[in-house]
Amino acid sequence: MTDPTPAVRDHVMSLLATELPAYVYDLTALRTDAAAVRDALPERVELYYAAKANPEPEILTALAPYVDGYEVSSGGELAHVAEAVPGRPLAFGGPGKTPAELTAALERGVDRFHVESGHELCMLAELARRIAPGRRVAVLPRVNLPVADGTLAGSSLAMGGRPAPFGMDPAHAVEAVRALTDGTYPHLELRGIHAHLASGLEVPEQLEVAETVVAWATGLGVPLAEVNIGGGMTVDYARPEHRFGWAAYGSGLARLTEAHPGLTLRIEPGRALTAYCGWYATEVLDVKHSHGEEFAVVRGGTHHLRTPATKGHDQPCSVLPVDAWPHPWPRPGAEGRRVTLAGQLCTPKDILARRVPAPGLRAGDRVVFALAGAYAWNISHHDFLMHPRPGFHFLDTPPA
Ligand SMILES: Cc1ncc(COP(=O)(O)O)c(C=O)c1O
Repeated sequence: MTDPTPAVRDHVMSLLATELPAYVYDLTALRTDAAAVRDALPERVELYYAAKANPEPEILTALAPYVDGYEVSSGGELAHVAEAVPGRPLAFGGPGKTPAELTAALERGVDRFHVESGHELCMLAELARRIAPGRRVAVLPRVNLPVADGTLAGSSLAMGGRPAPFGMDPAHAVEAVRALTDGTYPHLELRGIHAHLASGLEVPEQLEVAETVVAWATGLGVPLAEVNIGGGMTVDYARPEHRFGWAAYGSGLARLTEAHPGLTLRIEPGRALTAYCGWYATEVLDVKHSHGEEFAVVRGGTHHLRTPATKGHDQPCSVLPVDAWPHPWPRPGAEGRRVTLAGQLCTPKDILARRVPAPGLRAGDRVVFALAGAYAWNISHHDFLMHPRPGFHFLDTPPA
């Protein structure tokens, strides 16, 4: 069980049942968390936010004072983020960039291009020659590096260190670096190297990745201003109170920057910045017994909060009891101690949390799911079964 902040709890209880389900974001908590992350990072480590984790304009704006820029991974994200936080630096990454997307990014004067393949590099060079002839466009080839055995074993989502459609094999990245330094592409500038190898890594693994990437990049023997070591700091859905060790990570990165004077590191976390500020609140519609187990069906489901289905976990949650029962028919309730929380979809996959301790859970009680601020609403299949969309609430208490 994970209790919502008092602000979130009060807000959820103030909503009408018909205003549920609802996403409630605690922007005050988000600012506090982001400020702590910023403070933990040493000089010469830049913080970009990977907008794909949650691109709500209110979230992007709340993060603005604490981040150096935003990582975007499509033309859609590029246009959206540029509008939400105008004038902020943008790094354009992601596989399969189209000519139209690269053209739009060049026209907007995007700060950094994370190039995913030799083909993409050729395309960018030709488009830069035509669209931005007067400047040199900053490029960071994305490399898919092997890392020490076991480093990525705990990852919930490995994108590198093995065959993958992301980034370039080291040998291809070396070719890209050569072409960027031998005058082949006069309109492009080799600014550095980019690597995002996995998500869901703890501090020791993140530092191992950082050291591996920096050693490889600096070993190329060409001047590099930056190395982007990606995002992927863990969020532990089974232990929501356990947070990524930003202070230890910051100390490790400080040792790395001290060893490489003149090099700027950049990280681009998504999940670990915004997961904790978001809550998905709903109401129990029905409680039933089935073959020895108890199920509660809640308003909404995994078409709004797909995270537990995609990651295969139980979404941490908390029950807010509601004593009033306004209906003339009997109120169903759980007889046992553990209840599985299901959504309204006609699929057995629509499970938000299994066998959660919720003795006496009744129809009409409210349930608030935690860690719903990243890869939640924006990765969900909203239109399946055509239920109403949730409400969106952004709580912002200015400091006293
Ligand atoms: C290139 C890149 N950077 C950063 C991220 C953010 O990862 P996370 O949200 O796990 O921190 C991702 C996620 O897929 C990514 O693909």
